[in-house]
Amino acid sequence: MDNPSPLSHIAFIMDGNGRWAAKRRLLREYGHKAGADTFRRIVNYCGEIGIKYVTVYAFSTENWKRPKREVDAIFDLLCRYIDNYLPELIERNVSVRFIGEKRGIKTDILDKMSLLEEKTNGFEKKLFIALNYGGRAEICGAVNRLIAEGKTTVTEDDISSHVYTSEAPDPDLIVRTGGEYRLSNFLLWQAAYAELYITDTLWPDMTPHDVDLAIEEYKRRNRRYGGL
Ligand code: IPE
Ligand code: IPE
Ligand code: MG
Repeated sequence: MDNPSPLSHIAFIMDGNGRWAAKRRLLREYGHKAGADTFRRIVNYCGEIGIKYVTVYAFSTENWKRPKREVDAIFDLLCRYIDNYLPELIERNVSVRFIGEKRGIKTDILDKMSLLEEKTNGFEKKLFIALNYGGRAEICGAVNRLIAEGKTTVTEDDISSHVYTSEAPDPDLIVRTGGEYRLSNFLLWQAAYAELYITDTLWPDMTPHDVDLAIEEYKRRNRRYGGL
């Protein structure tokens, strides 16, 4: 039977930028640059086909282990992205929310991130950008806030309403490019019943057609949620 659940939230693990560059004998930084262009194209496409919530994994709490040069290049790309993409996001009715830890990110970058969130606030479509994000840290943060609010025991609903994406339904579909079969600490709480779609396509090569293929596959899945 075709899966009747509407697809309202897609999350992407944008992996494979480095391998894309290596295949071309380029520095990894060029892979991230190509990946940033793909990110813009894919997010726009998801909006065009009526997906209300999109989450992308841009930088994990573990990605600080990479050489400083690569980390700096990723944050530079982010700053340029914010400067260039703001008008397009507004035109396309997309609200941006950064999810992840603020600690560790330079203040000038944090200021830019806040400005982007403010200027795009209140639009119908939501784009969550996971930056300096870790799923386990997110769950600990939610629980710690609940404790600070005076809770001594917590429910699943309590945690769901205290994770970063509380204003969105859980992702229906998580797409990972680059062919690795793991979540790499992404949306651990929210992914409980997400359908997973893994493709060998490297993120910079991802096209709207590949998104269509993932959605077609999603529609063929039978989401049982433990039932029959
Ligand atoms: C994903 O691509 C982007 C980030 C993690 C920032 P990678 O940089 O992990 O690319 P590969 O996996 O090395 O090819
Ligand atoms: C996951 O990719 C993080 C992002 C896409 C931002 P990684 O390349 O960091 O994941 P691992 O190291 O293969 O698990
Ligand atoms: Mg990788």
